[in-house]
Amino acid sequence: MNVDGEHYRTIWRDDAGSVLAIDQQLLPFTFDICTIDGVDEMAAAIAGMTVRGAGLIGAAAGYGMYLAAIAHATDAPTDRAAGLAAARSTLNAARPTALNLSWATQRVVASLDVSLPDEDFVHAAGQIADFIADEDVEHCRRIGEHGLIILRALHASVDRPLNVLTHCNAGWLAFVDHGTATAPIYAAHDAGLPIHVWVDETRPRNQGARLTAWELGQHGVEHTVVVDSVGGHLMQHGMVDAVLVGSDRTSRTGDVANKIGTYLKALAASDNDIPFYAAMPSSTIDWTSTDGLSQTPIEQRNPNEVTHITGLLDGVETKVQLTPDGTHAINYGFDVTPSRLVTGIITERGVCDPTALAGLFPDRVEEHT
Ligand code: MRU
Repeated sequence: MNVDGEHYRTIWRDDAGSVLAIDQQLLPFTFDICTIDGVDEMAAAIAGMTVRGAGLIGAAAGYGMYLAAIAHATDAPTDRAAGLAAARSTLNAARPTALNLSWATQRVVASLDVSLPDEDFVHAAGQIADFIADEDVEHCRRIGEHGLIILRALHASVDRPLNVLTHCNAGWLAFVDHGTATAPIYAAHDAGLPIHVWVDETRPRNQGARLTAWELGQHGVEHTVVVDSVGGHLMQHGMVDAVLVGSDRTSRTGDVANKIGTYLKALAASDNDIPFYAAMPSSTIDWTSTDGLSQTPIEQRNPNEVTHITGLLDGVETKVQLTPDGTHAINYGFDVTPSRLVTGIITERGVCDPTALAGLFPDRVEEHT
């Protein structure tokens, strides 16, 4: 995606063995690139949400394993294997809900030959990490193509811009490029289909208000930020044609875990006969899970994110307290929308009923049985 006319991915590596990423803690007020030089730094960047979003967390984990390979390049094969295993545990612990994290670290461990000569070992680790990132880009691009077919069909029945509501940020910032929920939106915009996006602010961290609004603006897509509780009202008044969200983990049976508050949008969409789509690459699907509600680990973050809010004050990013001193708060990061509320899942292989994922990916199901 372009930032002020220049193309960027959200994460990449340089020739000196560093990983570079867009610092999402600073957006939308400052656009800056941070340098990540070791496994602990990468785990901290993931946990602190300098890098965030399902696909980007996966790519970051792949690059984190590459940094581990650099650190253990001169070790004996058994020590390299132990070093990679330790890095994998450190990275996997950074955020529990996004499946792409453990999927990516497992992928590096499974495909990296620890007996290679030093330079080849590091080179191979870098190539695997690049492959994970490149694949994410390609899968998101295809999700855009498949989702565009849905948006075109929906637009055929309205004589005004299509209104899509999205929650949180499943945009290119949440992946390596394109995004998932936003990929069909960008494809529609680029194809000249008139489209307007309702952007849920997404408390407590405001990924919608801060990140989705910023990236839609960079791409020139019409959008309006709304507080999280407005969606139902908009739907009751015919102001939403479709809800399009991403996912951090989806069960094989189509239960969609996504940013907290998504379930309520799905309920409102169902009550108003509005299609509710979740877009995700297959790397987000938990092929071992048959019940998302009971089997998805739900991240709880620091209550401080609820009791305080950060914004720009006189040009300076400032954190202010919202609640009375000593107020107890709890901060669940995600909820699960049961498959019965999901109209369809948009993947890199096409769109399917939420309960038909196994039919679209028989090879993945087989790998996990
Ligand atoms: O906590 P985050 O910002 O990493 O959460 C991820 C999200 O932005 C969403 O839930 C998103 O819709 C799915 S990730 C593409």
